[in-house]
Amino acid sequence: MVVLISNWSSVQSLPESYVFPPDRRPGTHEIPASNDIPIIDLRKIDGPDRSDIVQQIITASQDFGLFQVINHGVSRDLTDQTMGVLREFFAAPAEFKARFYSNDLNSSCRLYTSTLNYENEEFHYWRDNLTHRCHPIEDHIDHWPENPLHYRKVVAEYSIESRKFLFTILELICDGIGLETGYFEGEMSKNQLVSVNHHIPCPDPSLTLGMPEHCDPNLISMLQQGDVCGLQALKDGQWIGVEPLPGAFVVIPGLQLRVISNGKLASAVHRVVTDSKRSRTTIGTFLNPSNDILIRPADGPISSPAPVYRGYTYKEFFSAFTGNNCEAESTLRCFKL
Ligand code: OGA
Ligand code: NI
Repeated sequence: MVVLISNWSSVQSLPESYVFPPDRRPGTHEIPASNDIPIIDLRKIDGPDRSDIVQQIITASQDFGLFQVINHGVSRDLTDQTMGVLREFFAAPAEFKARFYSNDLNSSCRLYTSTLNYENEEFHYWRDNLTHRCHPIEDHIDHWPENPLHYRKVVAEYSIESRKFLFTILELICDGIGLETGYFEGEMSKNQLVSVNHHIPCPDPSLTLGMPEHCDPNLISMLQQGDVCGLQALKDGQWIGVEPLPGAFVVIPGLQLRVISNGKLASAVHRVVTDSKRSRTTIGTFLNPSNDILIRPADGPISSPAPVYRGYTYKEFFSAFTGNNCEAESTLRCFKL
């Protein structure tokens, strides 16, 4: 079994295999958390302010391809408990975690380190990741960790609540770009994954990354950051830090939303830098279309004067994405009309 970084103790210097080539290092230049990133407050979503909230989400998606949401309705108790069981999972002994270790993309619950390509990659990323399916719960829960004791109960509740939250956001997006209610239900959002990143303190954050720069290929993502900085988004060619706001969710429209909106909504390029002092855990929830569903720019004014992408299946998109080194622009070029 490859050694998970979460089971390393007292790492004094960065092992050679984690040191990036000079042109790919994040460097020593400090990137502060930015307060430019839009913060959407959902408290008044059911009142007359709804249309204003819709507009804020659309503007944030166009300008940043990423935003934070507060007063989202998922209780602080649940977000804290979920963070608690996941941190406990990563703190467990290597022998306990070994049975979840897998590099198989189709495994229903997989724990891995760096990327799924650990054996063959040029250099490693400073992270461990646990990913499992979570919708519908009863089809997948038997594959989840049974320890910590409340893992299944807490993560099941979190999965249900985070799904509701993402559908609230998707409905607001539907309103904002003129799609019929329910456009994203069913096959469009069939597969829900929880994907948890864990990074232990890194001896030299200037030389390595916790996650490479990327766009999320899915429909939509939400992230619950802990209280340690690390997530950065690219805006006008500059990296900006996404401040960890207690209890907030970061929402990132995925590349499928970019295509369905005919390029009107953006999907932020983002990456994760490491921290020298504190370990960092982030809970990602992703909605993915089912493999065989047809994705294309939606009918209606959003696609006027003409669609700029051809239709494709998500399977086809995903294979182009991996074939293009997970690079968004070259992947999208394959589907441009
Ligand atoms: C991801 C991602 C960011 C983070 O999992 O796709 O971008 O802060 N995660 O862990
Ligand atoms: Ni991402």
